[in-house]
Amino acid sequence: MADLLKLGVLISGSGSNLQSIIDQIERGALNAKIAMVVSNHPEAYGLTRAQKHGIPQTVLNHRDFENREAFDRELLRVLQTAGVELVVLAGFMRILTPFFLRAFPDRIINIHPALLPSFPGTHVQQKALDYGVRFSGCTVHFVDEGVDTGPIIIQAVVPVLDGDTAETLAARILKEEHKIYPQAIRYFAEGRIVKNGRRVEIKGIGNHDAALCNPPLDR
Ligand code: GAR
Repeated sequence: MADLLKLGVLISGSGSNLQSIIDQIERGALNAKIAMVVSNHPEAYGLTRAQKHGIPQTVLNHRDFENREAFDRELLRVLQTAGVELVVLAGFMRILTPFFLRAFPDRIINIHPALLPSFPGTHVQQKALDYGVRFSGCTVHFVDEGVDTGPIIIQAVVPVLDGDTAETLAARILKEEHKIYPQAIRYFAEGRIVKNGRRVEIKGIGNHDAALCNPPLDR
C-alpha cells in the first residue's frame, strides 16, 4: 500500500472537525494519518480528543511568541519534524504569514462556516442571519494570503430557517462540515484535485444540476 498522506491538523477550540477526520480514518474511509495536532490554546478540547486517540500533539501558545512570524517559524518546525504533507486548519483562529504559506504551496486547506465568498471572517452565522440570506453553508478552500479567499474545493448548502439563532444555524452548518472536510481530504489523498487558477477541478466527479430553493416553490 502507498504511504498514508500525513496530516497536520491545526485547532484552536472544540475540535469537532478534527474528530470527524479521526472517525473517518478509524473507520477506514480515509487513507490518511494525523501526524500532529497543534493548538494555539492550551485548554482547547480538541487536544483531549487527540490524546484519546493516541495522536501526537503540540501546544504553541501564541502569547509566548514575539510576533506572528516567530509563531509560524516554530509551527513550521513542528510540522516539518512530524513529516506533515497536508496542513488542515480545523477551527484554527489565526492568520498564517506568507512565510508559512510558502513552505506548503497548495498544501494548506481551511474550513469556513459560510458559503464563500459571502461572509468571510468571524461571527459569520450571525452575519448571515442579519443579512437575511435564505441559504448558508460551509466551504473547504485552499489557503492563500487573504482571509478566506483561496480557491474553493467543496461547499455544502443548508437552509436558514425561521426562528434560527446563530447557534442553531451554526449547528446545522457544523453537521455538514463534518461530512465535507473528510471528503476534501480524501480527494487530496487520492490525487484528484487539479487547481487551475481559482477553479478547482475534482477528477472523477459526476456533475449534478439540481437547484435548491428556500422557501420551496409552490407546487
Ligand atoms: C467550525 O465551524 C469552523 O468552520 C470554524 O470554527 C468552527 C470550529 O469548530 N472555523 C472558522 O471560523 C475559521 N475562520 P470545531 O473546533 O468544533 O471544529
